[in-house]
Amino acid sequence: MGTQGTDALVAEAHAAAAAAAAASGVRIGDVHSHAHITAVSRLFDDVWGRDPDAGGIMAPELLHAMEHAGCQVTGAFDGDTLVGATAAILGMDEEQGLFLHSHITGIVAGSQLRGVGWALKQYQRAWCLARGIGTVRWTFDPLVRRNAVFNLVKLGARPIAWLDDAYGPMRDRRNAGLPTDRFLVRWDLAEARVARAAAGTFAEPRLEGLRRAGAVEVLRDEGGEPVRVEADAPRLLAQVPADIEALRAEAPERARRWADAVRDTVGAAMRGEHRLIGVTRDGWYVLTRDDEVEELR
Ligand SMILES: CC(C)(COP(=O)(O)OP(=O)(O)OC[C@H]1O[C@@H](n2cnc3c(N)ncnc32)[C@H](O)[C@@H]1OP(=O)(O)O)[C@@H](O)C(=O)NCCC(=O)NCCS
Repeated sequence: MGTQGTDALVAEAHAAAAAAAAASGVRIGDVHSHAHITAVSRLFDDVWGRDPDAGGIMAPELLHAMEHAGCQVTGAFDGDTLVGATAAILGMDEEQGLFLHSHITGIVAGSQLRGVGWALKQYQRAWCLARGIGTVRWTFDPLVRRNAVFNLVKLGARPIAWLDDAYGPMRDRRNAGLPTDRFLVRWDLAEARVARAAAGTFAEPRLEGLRRAGAVEVLRDEGGEPVRVEADAPRLLAQVPADIEALRAEAPERARRWADAVRDTVGAAMRGEHRLIGVTRDGWYVLTRDDEVEELR
């Protein structure tokens, strides 16, 4: 992260975080007390439907170890009630130096879709920038359309890799019995499009322009079923279903067909030369192998 304008950037990020928390009616802060850490651990088990007796998502002692080490364990409170939380670890590699790996963010069912997740991420951006950390990474499930739109459009994160079965078999209600394919994304906190997103201007690709420019469909939703099209082109479009989580509960075989289809199209393209550069609100992923084009419109 360059030093030029750093103070202004940190101030802008703090202001965006404060505005986001106020808009969603929550108070956000790092948690340290055992009571709060235990509440965070329970919240993750609750959101992911995992039995703590069978080995919870993140045990209180692990969350304590993280906060002792200066990692991020953060809660969003509505009054005295914890309604959302994030747990993130510090990471390091040769290319980027220090970064934050945001392992998990969850909002309780009754408080989703009212801006609490957005507020937690804006807090996380300010938290990092204030510590001189310029990048946050995390993974997300390519099949969950709403998370794709949230991560890639609303936050402005960029996918950097496709990970086959990133976590091995998982035992929670959301993931049990399924492959755990994930995108790895990076959120470059000082990047102009991320700052624009924090201020409310989002990077959604325009499908019509892409089609006119020769983008080719390789996967689409037809009446809820995945339909694959054999094609190879510099720009590809692949659609994911509106609500894979409902399908997993109601039609697991069909959900499985979707997982295979997305791995065989989006995953295959990313293992090849294509980069994933965005998603539309209707769930169309946009992939390109054209290095010249950074933002497709
Ligand atoms: C993912 C999650 C953290 C988001 O937090 P949230 O508080 O519910 O989300 P927000 O209200 O801040 O933002 C919602 C955004 O998601 C996107 N979104 C939500 N529903 C959508 C849909 N049906 N189609 C497309 N985009 C959708 C939009 O960008 C929306 O914002 P907008 O309507 O202003 O454009 C939360 O829903 C959650 O805990 N889900 C279950 C656990 C999970 O999947 N965690 C993430 C993986 S670690």
